[in-house]
Amino acid sequence: MKAKRQTIDRVTATRGLEDVVAGETKISYVDGAAGRLIYCGYDIRELAENASFAEAVYLLWHGELPTAAQLEGFRSRLVSEMRLPSQVVETIKLAPPSAHPMDLLRTAVSALSMYDPDRGDLSVGACERKSVRLLAQTITLVADMHRLRSGRPLLSADVQMGLGANFLYMLRGARPDIEEQRAFEVLLMLHLEHGFNASTFAARVTASTLSDTHAALTSGLGTLKGPLHGGANERAIEIFDRIDEVEAIEDYIEGMLNEGKRIMGFGHRVYKVEDPRARLLRPHAQILCHRAGMGKLSSIADRIEQVVLKKKGIYPNVDFYSGLVQHALGIPKEYFTAVFACARTAGWLAHIREQYDDNRLIRPTSNYIGAWNKRALPIAERG
Ligand code: COA
Repeated sequence: MKAKRQTIDRVTATRGLEDVVAGETKISYVDGAAGRLIYCGYDIRELAENASFAEAVYLLWHGELPTAAQLEGFRSRLVSEMRLPSQVVETIKLAPPSAHPMDLLRTAVSALSMYDPDRGDLSVGACERKSVRLLAQTITLVADMHRLRSGRPLLSADVQMGLGANFLYMLRGARPDIEEQRAFEVLLMLHLEHGFNASTFAARVTASTLSDTHAALTSGLGTLKGPLHGGANERAIEIFDRIDEVEAIEDYIEGMLNEGKRIMGFGHRVYKVEDPRARLLRPHAQILCHRAGMGKLSSIADRIEQVVLKKKGIYPNVDFYSGLVQHALGIPKEYFTAVFACARTAGWLAHIREQYDDNRLIRPTSNYIGAWNKRALPIAERG
């Protein structure tokens, strides 16, 4: 006799949770129709022009921009925390050279929890101390990782310099000039925060179980790595290895689209118009490319934009220009996503604290579409 199919009434599942409102936040607003991004009430365009990365982090963590005195205190606290437990430095040294920086970063952030004096404490004070420490340590991890793996000596943060300048200095060994510093500060600021994106949501889900801050960050890092999310900036730059003439672009893009391939660094789930972060990074990419003798890359980028818009109707996202800016700054491509992750760590930390402050376990449901009424026979009776 054929078993009767049981059904349970449910609303239709939304694939990819598109447009599903999964919570409330005061941290940022992404206006996909107008192409605007707001951090705590401030338009990102104005912040990128008038504020530093550290100021934007302060804004996210305190709800308001700092005064000069508050910023100085915040900056010096961050810079003074830019050192790592020696055991975590050993962890980096022991990793195989083939390990991807994002895998190593995820492992090292997880390892940091074992040496953090506030690790199990979810109180407001402990979360504030851990946030400062973790943002500073994450930046140091990425810089130290690159230096150790390329056989160069580790550099200590310079207490006189800001966060972005120290990051570039500790990573590359050379102090950045004003143009490099400005471009990098803007890049970090634009990667800082972006609503309930996949990695932030993953971090909030982990925080909602009242697991610790390091665990929530580790969830964020694992999620950011994927090529459909933060991993896109590393992939996006690869197109420049394959095309070296502006005239070849149209055929190349057409070939990729005909094969059903995605153009990395293009398209966005929320923005239906140009990603405002791409618009803000583009001029920095152009200036840095020309300065570094890579002017042709900038022309190729322009042409790729035109062709993809014409053929597919989609715009570049932040990762397209983030890859180009980092490339022009001399950062190796396998570190692009890890640099993004350092900035986003501050955004994740803001969300993790917001989740702890008004927590309810995040636990959605699903539509069951599997089999019903099967019988579990003893193993000897299964054919
Ligand atoms: N290259 C080519 N086609 C793309 C595309 C891209 N980068 N991004 C979206 N599309 C196309 C899809 O093929 C699909 O076309 P179809 O309707 O003809 O089948 C349509 O646009 C919708 O794609 P879908 O995957 O449903 O959109 P999404 O909202 O789920 O995707 C992204 C958003 C970001 C995952 C997607 O744009 C993408 O894969 N981009 C490349 C990776 C990237 O840059 N990620 C960083 C995001 S900041």
